[in-house]
Amino acid sequence: MRFDVDEARACASRLLAGSDDRLAHAKAAVRRADEIASVVGPSDRELLLCGAWLHDVGYGEKIRTVGFHPLDGALALEKLGWPSRLCALVAHHSESRITASALGLSDQLDRFPREEGAVTDALVHADLAAGPRGERMSLLERLDDIERRHLDDPLALCRARTARRPALIQAITRTEQRLHSLRCRVSG
Ligand SMILES: [Fe+2]
Repeated sequence: MRFDVDEARACASRLLAGSDDRLAHAKAAVRRADEIASVVGPSDRELLLCGAWLHDVGYGEKIRTVGFHPLDGALALEKLGWPSRLCALVAHHSESRITASALGLSDQLDRFPREEGAVTDALVHADLAAGPRGERMSLLERLDDIERRHLDDPLALCRARTARRPALIQAITRTEQRLHSLRCRVSG
């Protein structure tokens, strides 16, 4: 299946119009995704880049329905006709199932099948390497920043954000291991 990266960029620009910071974050995530794209198979490269462009479109005011951006984004993209695999990647990006559970949204999220593997892991890596305004951040800086910016959220949600840390760190570690193996193969 073809995933059109130019169309994803245009779609993100449209849905995040007026949210310059969010768009800058998406651009930075795409840059990082492009740098690490070798960890996914050649046929999944466009999917990863489209996911990086579109993963946060659920923050767009025009499409907000449930108020949980991974789900709002996936639902909007589904309506726009994006392939189901891309919608599911957006629905589940950065371990959203853990925060969805704290919000009582697991059933709605679970209608999108969660994919495990290199693409999902690489999207976590790309998302967390890009700060909220597109600045480069280390993983721990980024996780601390996310939790600090949402301190006023309900306690259950704050706890869920902390609880997802190990899963996010594991996804990034697996991506770094894949990059390392590729470098060894090239230099060996
Ligand atoms: Fe993001």
